[in-house]
Amino acid sequence: MATMLAVMMAIVVVTGITSALHPSSNVEVVEATTLHLRGEFVESNLGTAIEPDGSATVRIIAEQYDFVPRCVRVPADTPVKFRLTSADVVHGFLLPDTNVNTMVVPGFVAEVRTRFDAPGEYAMPCHEFCSLGHQAMWGHVSVQPKDQFAKLTPVKRTSCVPE
Ligand code: CUA
Repeated sequence: MATMLAVMMAIVVVTGITSALHPSSNVEVVEATTLHLRGEFVESNLGTAIEPDGSATVRIIAEQYDFVPRCVRVPADTPVKFRLTSADVVHGFLLPDTNVNTMVVPGFVAEVRTRFDAPGEYAMPCHEFCSLGHQAMWGHVSVQPKDQFAKLTPVKRTSCVPE
């Protein structure tokens, strides 16, 4: 037993040092109890925003048992940065078949960068058990052709109601 423990500890130390397996260094904190009152995650600032350099930033709050906004539209062929935080417990954010997969922890901002080559629809399940309504916690990302996205009003960027 002692040998097994020693081997496992050695694996943790060696991979930590040589393979840089450690928590991300850009830890960003946020006050979870006042998300709706001030700062980056107030309601009017949620959804997809276009930055001066043409990239997109998507801000989403995960809470029991929904994503706010529940659906976001993003432009195709554009760098997209997702910034998420939680208002209550630990949730998860995953876009199948992309590199987007993160835990969303209250008190911290989770940031994931990606790019969608082509238009498409993604269902985004919460993949961290967050209590009784977990299985109903789904959102949606709709990737729009770049020229169509440019014509959307800010309200339509956070709604997937058909035109
Ligand atoms: Cu949120 Cu499971």
